[in-house]
Amino acid sequence: MALVNEHYLKLKAGYLFPEIGRRVKLFAEANPNAKIIRLGIGDVTCPLAPAVIRAFHDAVDEMASEKSFMGYGPEQGYDFLIRTVIEKSYNPLGVDLKTSEVFISDGSKCDTANILDIFALENVVAIGDPVYPVYNDTNVMIGRTGEANEQGYYEGLVYMPCTEDNGFNPEFPEQAVDIIYLCFPNNPTGAVATKEQLKGWVDYALKQNAVIFFDAAYEAFITDPAIPHSIYEIEGAKKCAIEFRSFSKTAGFTGARCALTVVPEELMVNTAAGDPIQLNKLWNRRQSTKFNGVSYPVQKAAAAVYSDEGWSQVRETIDYYMENARIIREGLASAGLTVYGGVNAPYIWLKTPCGITSWSFFDKLLTECNVVGTPGSGFGPSGEGYFRLSAFGNRDSVIEAVERIKNNLR
Ligand code: MLT
Repeated sequence: MALVNEHYLKLKAGYLFPEIGRRVKLFAEANPNAKIIRLGIGDVTCPLAPAVIRAFHDAVDEMASEKSFMGYGPEQGYDFLIRTVIEKSYNPLGVDLKTSEVFISDGSKCDTANILDIFALENVVAIGDPVYPVYNDTNVMIGRTGEANEQGYYEGLVYMPCTEDNGFNPEFPEQAVDIIYLCFPNNPTGAVATKEQLKGWVDYALKQNAVIFFDAAYEAFITDPAIPHSIYEIEGAKKCAIEFRSFSKTAGFTGARCALTVVPEELMVNTAAGDPIQLNKLWNRRQSTKFNGVSYPVQKAAAAVYSDEGWSQVRETIDYYMENARIIREGLASAGLTVYGGVNAPYIWLKTPCGITSWSFFDKLLTECNVVGTPGSGFGPSGEGYFRLSAFGNRDSVIEAVERIKNNLR
């Protein structure tokens, strides 16, 4: 008889964003005239940049001719894209990478989940609280945890509270851990880490022989030149960190799908017997077996992001979203709300008014303002009493949503 993976049964609610979608759908069906504004899931709304679209079209045309048709590509990604990313995105930061250290994929969500394949279950894992739910749920799915307690913390995971008191920057875990997830600029709080703070984490990981999973999916939204975009800007990081980056939010690829993961060759992890193993080789092995690469037209489109024309168009869109972030942040602050984020990140993290719960605020905004956001408690127990708004909407909707919320709170 086939048996299920019972670790899945430990998961409490549905995945956060489909759950929000389900509730919004019910509301929309019951209120067909409501003009709902969606600032919940961080999904982009601007189209792909013209230079990107052109490269995409050209690559599709290549597929139409026998001479230029492309079949299976390298599982690790095409060299033209890997070289472009290194040259245009890492080298300007003073970071050099080998082409064999960069792996192109179809998303950071999948990569931050799939990377668990190459680590032993015995590793003690630390995640933020609140946190991007994928880090938590995939550790549950793979069997690293026991059940969740009443607060929602899973036995076996180490949670690092990210609170107003610590500026949403977690402190080092009190117990020894082997794997640490860091996400900066942070989803959901919008917090960033300074060079000194990141250096603290790198030094800590090197001392503990721990590995950092550094999710940099939102690095393109950093506006402060002093804030690092990559963990490899910190000395020693190549010996202890894997970095995840994405074209999704940077260049509007949430539907097109393209991302990259950097696994430096210097990064070694031991077997139980104490033999050092290069993680790069294991990830390569894993990807070659379980993944067939991102489609050629998508990789061509992604490379065009870094052409001079593409990058100036992409930057314009990023600036547009960051202006949305400013409108939300300043608008809600003027209505008396306490707001965080939205300066170096496309998310605004606000305190719910009068201490109401995150889900009550969600219901209030949905039913009274017809605005959808994301309840902070959906990102972890320390997110209770907070609420996340995404800056990825179109300008008119963002202005309208802020006005509706301000009027409601008056
Ligand atoms: C979010 O809203 O947190 C993101 O869109 C989720 C994701 O990138 O998978």
